[in-house]
Amino acid sequence: MSTSADQLKQVAADASAEFLKDGQIVGLGSGTTAALAVGAIGRRVASGLRITGISTSEKTTAQARELRIPLATLAEHPAIDITIDGADDVELHTLNLIKGGGGNLLREKIVAAASARLVIVVDKSKLVDRLGSHSPVPVEVVRFGWEATAKRLTALNLNPKLRKGDGDEPYITDGGNYILDCAVGPISSADQLGHELDSVIGVVEHGLFLGITSQVLIGTPDGVQTLNRA
Ligand code: A5P
Repeated sequence: MSTSADQLKQVAADASAEFLKDGQIVGLGSGTTAALAVGAIGRRVASGLRITGISTSEKTTAQARELRIPLATLAEHPAIDITIDGADDVELHTLNLIKGGGGNLLREKIVAAASARLVIVVDKSKLVDRLGSHSPVPVEVVRFGWEATAKRLTALNLNPKLRKGDGDEPYITDGGNYILDCAVGPISSADQLGHELDSVIGVVEHGLFLGITSQVLIGTPDGVQTLNRA
């Protein structure tokens, strides 16, 4: 019987929770794989592990509260020991990421940037040779004048498409912004694209997470495969 993607995500998620130690400040990611990791962390907390979580989304906050994982803010703990999160694309030779498929890239990036260690949990469907070959780059933009921002992205040949939520309404992030998904295809220079996106007026943040991954845990039918940053 073949192992489902969900089972493989669970393998990686369970392994990530084993990294945690008493007293740590832990960034809690968002998305379906991160939710499995938060579940595994909740089980460790129920068995006596003492950590403090910093959440990356309203949904993760609700899950963590339900599991009685103690939560705090970045103001209280600006230095995070370890963050566990998922990703949409993981580039094999760099461990650079595309994130934000679930809409939470802004808080995820703020938490990742404050973390001494960023551990990414995925199944192998997320591994790519080149970022962009599998997922669009989500770009979070302020709602005011978003059409003008989209035009700037179009002028950069980034094919922005307004993300829809329920029905035909635009998807709104936890920060109250819109997301433009940019189907750019394989990205030859993620650094250059990141700089271009950073310079567009109206862009709040983008889903390229570059040079910040410490480790990737990949769930496989034979257990966990680990990729470490060189
Ligand atoms: C949340 O917005 C994202 O960054 C997720 O981490 C990413 O989309 C991966 O999500 P899944 O684990 O649900 O595939």
